[in-house]
Amino acid sequence: MEALVIGGGNPLCGTVEINGAKNAALPLLAATVLHGGTYILHNCPDITDVALAAEIIEVLGGRVHRTGKTLTVDTQSVTAWRVPAELMARMRASVLFLGPLLGRFGRAVLTMPGGCPLGKRPIDLHLDAVAQMGAAVTLQEGEIRCEASKLHGCTIDLLFPSVGATENALLAAAACRGTVIIRNAAREPEIACLAEFLRAMGAEISGVGTETLTVAGGRPLGDAACTVLPDRIETATYLCAAAGCGGDITLLHTDGGLLLPVLETLSDAGCRVEQTGDCLKLRSDGPLRAAGTIQTAPYPGFPTDAQALVMAALLRADGCTRFSETIFERRFSHVAQLRRFGAEIETAGPTALVRGVRQLHAAEAGGSDLRASAAIVIAALQAPGESRVYGINHLHRGYDNLEGGLRKLGAEIGQENDWKFPAS
Ligand code: EPZ
Repeated sequence: MEALVIGGGNPLCGTVEINGAKNAALPLLAATVLHGGTYILHNCPDITDVALAAEIIEVLGGRVHRTGKTLTVDTQSVTAWRVPAELMARMRASVLFLGPLLGRFGRAVLTMPGGCPLGKRPIDLHLDAVAQMGAAVTLQEGEIRCEASKLHGCTIDLLFPSVGATENALLAAAACRGTVIIRNAAREPEIACLAEFLRAMGAEISGVGTETLTVAGGRPLGDAACTVLPDRIETATYLCAAAGCGGDITLLHTDGGLLLPVLETLSDAGCRVEQTGDCLKLRSDGPLRAAGTIQTAPYPGFPTDAQALVMAALLRADGCTRFSETIFERRFSHVAQLRRFGAEIETAGPTALVRGVRQLHAAEAGGSDLRASAAIVIAALQAPGESRVYGINHLHRGYDNLEGGLRKLGAEIGQENDWKFPAS
């Protein structure tokens, strides 16, 4: 099993370039299936989830070519509308092919998507949205079949501002004959990036960045190019690593405005954070202050994807920090792993209380999801001695060479292949 070996206890100093956002690149790739054309996606991270989305496009009949950080996607020869179950099962974003396939072919056959085990993660809001546009949805032997001779305009009231359901509704609406209004829409920056790409394809979308999106359907769609926006959670990962370890880092090609609640928390904890153009600096010297209460919320609230990262950064802070996770039912899987480094954390349902300790110690630990794995790396970087972090396939799903970026900041970190669990 692949593992990272980390020599912790040192400050982080240096400069790292931030990649394009996983959670923006994936809906963009799904959008290329909406209309047979040629699409150019710049600043696309080289991660396994993006490779999987490309594999889905190729299984459907399309072609994807990578040159550096640019993907060229040709979907003119896409003819299939069924996504194989084994590909659906490997990530949550595979569900985003529902809207484009339905919009293009009038039918789509999927199975339940996979992804990080953060709770039930149903797709009822996705299915309700396309049903309101006229799709007949049937669940048969584990398959989800959606059919619509043509999609019509409607007003969709999302019960929750679901990121994925908003994206699927947008994608299907772009192929609709009538006007679709999506109310209580999610407002994450990745959705604005998708809306910009759909506009570049020819769609007419208003209300971007607000909780009400209006898509005037029936517009002809065509080729488009776009640049994937910076990854705000990768940005948060490096910031939290430097905040926890101490040090002075510079992140290039990113935008602090995409993660203001995280910057505010780290500043309140005693870090010095400043943004100049597309460059974000953080300096952390001396022990951090605990952050009081942190409650996750839909954007522009505190991002759930940064909850584990900030928790790891505050394991040695003076005082107690209370985390309230309101988005996913089970997003504290990192807690048991962080305790292995000597962290003092108590959980009760959706709340975790972190009591800062003076010192962490090296340990062996492994994450069961993407951000939990990153949080464990942040803890290991703070712990003097040699730690091992296993299950790093999760990291490769969503981080483009995180190890390399941390090494640029002076971290002692490397992959130890074929690492086996220690004999119990
Ligand atoms: C996206 O997941 C992100 N993934 C997640 O990032 C992120 O944590 C999440 O949004 C919230 O910001 C991608 O963009 C690929 P949701 P998504 O639909 O779309 C419930 C990461 O680490 N819900 O906003 O699946 C759901 O169970 C990943 O990069 C329904 O009940 O999130 C959850 O409790 C992890 N029915 C809540 O809504 C539905 O039909 C938020 O889910 C859909 C969602």
